[in-house]
Amino acid sequence: MDTVIVGASEVAHLSNGDGPNNRIDGQLMLDREAHVTADLAIHIKDGKIIKFSSNDEMKQEWGIPSNSNEVNIIDASGCAIVPGFVDAHTHLLWDGDRSNEMAMKLSGMSYREISEKGFGIASTVSATQNAAASRLRKIGMDRIERARKMGTTTLEAKSGYGLDLDTELRLLETASSMEGNGVTLHHTWLGAHAYPSGSNENEWNRHLIDEQLPAVIEQGIATSVDVFCEPGWFSIETTEEICLSSKKSGLDVRLHVDEFVDGGGLSLAAELGASTADHAGYSSDDARSKAHHSGVNTGFLPGTPYVHGDPLPSIVSRCIDEGWMWSLATDFNPNCRTLSIPFVGSLAVHRLRIPPIAALAAVTINAASTLNVKKGVGRLVEGGIADLNILHTSSADGWCLMPGDNPVKMSIHHSSC
Ligand code: NIG
Ligand code: FE
Repeated sequence: MDTVIVGASEVAHLSNGDGPNNRIDGQLMLDREAHVTADLAIHIKDGKIIKFSSNDEMKQEWGIPSNSNEVNIIDASGCAIVPGFVDAHTHLLWDGDRSNEMAMKLSGMSYREISEKGFGIASTVSATQNAAASRLRKIGMDRIERARKMGTTTLEAKSGYGLDLDTELRLLETASSMEGNGVTLHHTWLGAHAYPSGSNENEWNRHLIDEQLPAVIEQGIATSVDVFCEPGWFSIETTEEICLSSKKSGLDVRLHVDEFVDGGGLSLAAELGASTADHAGYSSDDARSKAHHSGVNTGFLPGTPYVHGDPLPSIVSRCIDEGWMWSLATDFNPNCRTLSIPFVGSLAVHRLRIPPIAALAAVTINAASTLNVKKGVGRLVEGGIADLNILHTSSADGWCLMPGDNPVKMSIHHSSC
């Protein structure tokens, strides 16, 4: 069926990216006029945007308002439209509850200290290993629904809380089985998230490369690999070995780097040609420029330092000045339990002083460029996928200006039209 959306006050189409993969970086991020247009109606058919035209033209073409039933008419009067959000870094599936860590944080313990006491990732791993696939699926579907309501239409889902072969495969298989429920999923194997207690680094590394990786590849349930590359977790050498083997097997590389200290992770990401290196709050300028020249995106995850009570990555505004490639994501995980891209946008705008449309590019077109997605994901273009959000606000800037509330009035994913 044909769908037409008429009356929108403005549409942030973000179709003027000029970098690799049509990204929007550098000063272009600040050019609101290039990315937002008033008086634009949208015609959608079979999940794709067929045509943009002025509201008057579209209404005339479809005989609106008198048209009865041969078209699905959506009246977006007084609302702005933005692309569907792309959350390119989540730890979607795990069981358990780590609310008890808040008291530890308030008593002054750091993330590292909490983890060294056997809490943190290890505690989520035990709860997850005990969860059947049916339970994980139910948990996952509930989370997808929450993300979808807040405008996420594409979501990367990492494994990583299984630690043993069976549970890692269960996590990836369960995530794969959840396709087509209002969001598009991208699957990442994060076997190298932590070490099982008592294991030795070398043995664990061999297990990941010789047992988990081949099983993941054989089952075809992931397209990317990720490693928690951080002093105290996975070293540069181990990360490199796991990533090189994974690349040989056809996975692309996404990394957790330099989250707490500058451990050289972003430089390694540049050498490996990673699609994205995330967190990266403590990376050196040299590494940032190296990443830029290698076409490696930096995914900032301000929700995580926010829940730690740490400073947010103020380097983001320099990324705009320097033209470095960056994006934003939630990092949804048991320690940072937000699936709200609008909340992350609020952190970037209200705390890091990033203009709303620049932050919008960071959660749509730029995030999409790190994933293997269909044409148009992350922006609104003729012939592209029709994933979009109709907002409660008349300005597209409003997408991130309602902290604690949901700015999305209606979210459309191409599978639904
Ligand atoms: O990206 N830092 C590594 N992994 C997750 C957190 C894991 C956890 O605390 O459960 C992250 O923040
Ligand atoms: Fe993460």
